Amino acid sequence: MRLLKEWYDAINNATNVDAIEEIRISIFGKKGVLATEFAKMKTASNEDKSKIAKELNTHKSALMNELSVKKTELQTQELELAMQAEGLDVSLYSTSSEAGALHPVMETMDRIVEYFAALNFAVKTGGMVEDDFNNFEALNLPKYHPARDMQDTFYFKDEMLLRTHTSPVQIRTMMAQKPPIRMIAPGAVFRRDYDITHTPMFHQIEGLLVDEKGKVSFANLKFILEDFLKFMFGEVEVRFRPSFFPFTEPSAEADISCVFCKGDGCRVCSHTGWLEVLGCGIVDPNVFEAVKYENVSGYAFGLGVERFAMLIHQIGDLRSLFEGDIKLLEQFR
Ligand code: DAH
Repeated sequence: MRLLKEWYDAINNATNVDAIEEIRISIFGKKGVLATEFAKMKTASNEDKSKIAKELNTHKSALMNELSVKKTELQTQELELAMQAEGLDVSLYSTSSEAGALHPVMETMDRIVEYFAALNFAVKTGGMVEDDFNNFEALNLPKYHPARDMQDTFYFKDEMLLRTHTSPVQIRTMMAQKPPIRMIAPGAVFRRDYDITHTPMFHQIEGLLVDEKGKVSFANLKFILEDFLKFMFGEVEVRFRPSFFPFTEPSAEADISCVFCKGDGCRVCSHTGWLEVLGCGIVDPNVFEAVKYENVSGYAFGLGVERFAMLIHQIGDLRSLFEGDIKLLEQFR
């Protein structure tokens, strides 16, 4: 067994992790010393066999232990040396000052506001905590109406909740002001959703225009939204599809031709060539009744800002907009 004893010294004298690995193979490898020693047992007498086996096994576990202790020690040493060599002093001042930039969602929101502000739409905000009346009831979403299910959210006490859309700002504005009205409402909204296209908090922009009865038509709405979508996305086709929203009648959803495949059909547009971008319609008479407006007509629309930002910057996963990873966000400057 003198042969094995030498290996303890070898381990002790190793100066780096690579050397340790070589020693490990020399001892425990298929052709290593242990294998050779065990093989020798075959020729020994039965009595010696058990003695040798016992001794060999004791060395085996002792050597294994020595190896792992030494390896950890050397690894720590190497790491410390590497850190010293890097010479990173986190307390040093930085000599360069990097210019920040707007988050893509805020940048998109600003651009949308820019379009409507130029047309004299006032910018209204409202609060993120709403009551049931403004968020649902006045928007023609009575209690127990099944359309409430589309917008499940976080409730507080006394029928207070995190607003599920920016539409309540329509109600607040009409309650506070006489017609005519021309407003947009940008802001954060909240829903109980989470997947690659939904986050519990996101941003919407609401639009509302109210004037004398008979003065506002669906044609006006179509014109302005088509012009707006071309301002945002460049030369795209725009189409309107009949849809349902409780607060507008008739209601529509606006689609643009897919910005990725130019309408040929691809994965993003589910091979339809079209991307849904907003909801809109002619304000339902029940909404005007709720805010006690008489002899008026109007149109409204609502859109998700993140969706616009994703389409403009070709971002695949909505959640990446909220992770705050600077390396990722920098790409959209
Ligand atoms: N509030 C709707 C939503 O969150 C969006 C919307 C659709 C707003 C149509 C409108 C509208 O004003 O007319 O899904």
